[in-house]
Amino acid sequence: MTDQKKSEQSTTSEKPWGGRFSEPTDAFVERFTASVGFDQRLYHHDITGSIAHATMLASVGVLTDQERDAIIEGLNGVKADIESGAFEWSVSLEDVHMNVEARLTDRIGITGKKLHTGRSRNDQVATDIRLYLRDEIDVIAEELTRLKAGLLDLAEREADTIMPGFTHLQTAQPVTFGHHLMAWYEMLVRDADRLQDCRKRVNVMPLGAAALAGTTYPIDRDMTARLLGFDRPTENSLDSVGDRDFAIEFCSFASLLMTHLSRFSEELVLWTSAQFDFIDLPDRFCTGSSIMPQKKNPDVPELVRGKTGRVNGHLISLLTLMKSQPLAYNKDNQEDKEPLFDTVDTIKGCLKAYADMIPAIRSKADNMRVAAKQGFSTATDLADYLVKKGVPFRDAHEIVGKSVAFGVAEGRDLSEMSLEELRQFSDVIGEDVFDVLTLEGSVQARNHLGGTAPEQVRAAVARARARLAG
Ligand code: ARG
Repeated sequence: MTDQKKSEQSTTSEKPWGGRFSEPTDAFVERFTASVGFDQRLYHHDITGSIAHATMLASVGVLTDQERDAIIEGLNGVKADIESGAFEWSVSLEDVHMNVEARLTDRIGITGKKLHTGRSRNDQVATDIRLYLRDEIDVIAEELTRLKAGLLDLAEREADTIMPGFTHLQTAQPVTFGHHLMAWYEMLVRDADRLQDCRKRVNVMPLGAAALAGTTYPIDRDMTARLLGFDRPTENSLDSVGDRDFAIEFCSFASLLMTHLSRFSEELVLWTSAQFDFIDLPDRFCTGSSIMPQKKNPDVPELVRGKTGRVNGHLISLLTLMKSQPLAYNKDNQEDKEPLFDTVDTIKGCLKAYADMIPAIRSKADNMRVAAKQGFSTATDLADYLVKKGVPFRDAHEIVGKSVAFGVAEGRDLSEMSLEELRQFSDVIGEDVFDVLTLEGSVQARNHLGGTAPEQVRAAVARARARLAG
């Protein structure tokens, strides 16, 4: 039977809330208002929450121990049915909560109807999403750690590799590839911190708020919170059922993560192009063209860059969903799930792709070196050299500017000029100038915390490894 057929046949008495209704729900309205199509993925957390709730109700004497045991056994049976594929989800039962509860009652009879004592779907759904998101945060955190570890290995391997550093995408100064990779690493460190910070606000328990005002039963919210691994119960019942800012916060973490991955992706796309040719991405992360046989396209980074759009969109969806909602729960909040679920799925996919791909990147050090030599990338080093010989910085800037103009006219880099040629612009220049005009001299000279020298890259990797392990 199709869902539509089934819903057309549903009667008011089938609905857990059907008591005050005198006609069946309109078939379209039933489908329009149902969330079971997407919230069924919360079944596991819904059942976990219900088991904790029943356990607490028995401990305060609202349920007998026998009732509690029957409910727990029944809920485990429902879970097994869902996992075996034997469970038939019903649109007329609206959402995951009522589907599970109805099947529980089918299984264990009247006792199943006692489970909902002292709670509402409003605090139930808020609890389910928090439990779900907490678990996903832990999976995402692990994947982020795997990506970060791969990035550290690559940075260490590339600590001495010289590439051009850019500003305005114009060659600026030589840097080490390892240093460049560690810039990405720092972004991911902040993302991981933001995720853990968000987890603190996710891991708070709304159960007990019931519909909005709390409940008349002698509930023990600390106990339920403990059973579910929450840090504490929420403080205010209205806020507990109405608030989704923890989900918005998670989506904002996700948007920033995707923003970082999109920048990362953009560089990988540029670097694999024939024009840059700085790195090789193994074939397994690329695809070909159906018409141009020579093509090898960096699809994975491109797709990750593209997926930033939907993740940013979900953040805006949730912000807009929440905006101006009066207290407490409103059906609007049912719309929180699809953006949140898609955000979780998308960033898990992107992180997996990146964590697999990053360790496989191979640099083309010769090409990077040739590029680093172009564009007078050691011009600042010459200026610094002059300043160290007593020339004021502004004058040094002018002298180097003239040397560069000469180099442009002659088609030669600063390091390729003779001492005599360089001395036309300043007589403080001596033979030792060539130590600073080489690429190696340039990067090695920036040997301080946060600088690009190979020694600093190795030290940064070591510090990061210690933090990652600790
Ligand atoms: N499916 C609903 C949601 O996702 C569950 C809560 C419904 N509560 C209600 N009073 N209609 O938000």
